[in-house]
Amino acid sequence: MRLDKFLSDSTDMSRKDIKQLIRKKAVTVNGEIITKPEMQVEENDAVTVNGQAVLYRRFVYLLLNKPSGYVSATEDKKYPVVTDLVPEEYRHFDVFPAGRLDIDTEGLLILTNDGEFVHDITSPKKNVYKRYFARLDKPAEDADISVFQGGMEFKEFTAKPAKLEICADAEAYVEIAEGKFHQVKRMFERVGKTVVYLKRVSIGGLKLPEDLASGEVKEIGYEELLNKIYD
Ligand code: URA
Repeated sequence: MRLDKFLSDSTDMSRKDIKQLIRKKAVTVNGEIITKPEMQVEENDAVTVNGQAVLYRRFVYLLLNKPSGYVSATEDKKYPVVTDLVPEEYRHFDVFPAGRLDIDTEGLLILTNDGEFVHDITSPKKNVYKRYFARLDKPAEDADISVFQGGMEFKEFTAKPAKLEICADAEAYVEIAEGKFHQVKRMFERVGKTVVYLKRVSIGGLKLPEDLASGEVKEIGYEELLNKIYD
């Protein structure tokens, strides 16, 4: 790719600033000062700007601990959106949410600009189970476990077997393979319970980091992300 593309993919500098820096001899490739923005470079070439190394990055993967009150979208007319929580340094990547959590659902949401990755982890065919913590209006019952396990039928899909773990105080964990509109809430409604609080705690083997406060974002490397999800 061109040197100016390498730098605009990997940094938040504008194309104009990049061109100027290159012309001002502030950019080196493999130790040599380069003054041509169109020079061809490879992803793993050693590029520096003002003496600082710049690693090539086309895609970025962010973990968000989503708070209630945010829509899982990049824009909304009425409510704040999850991408409002992306720190300045990641803004130029134009990330979007990998799947959706309801406005009142909290917890683990991946934000990325890698569309292929999003397609993969949200596809039910990939069998990536998502685990949720739910607080209900009344306790779940043992009989509900087999109803969840049996593959509930909805008008637009049949759920894969879902795992329900009942806890004390009308709390429960549930694991589902899909992530259809209001799926967990609809599953509990089917057995006569209303979800009053919902939080996603993991996606496959990837857990919501304990040190990630509500509203905070943390970058994760692609390899680590895949290893954890498909663990
Ligand atoms: N199921 C729901 O009902 N809501 C969510 O946000 C996610 C799963």
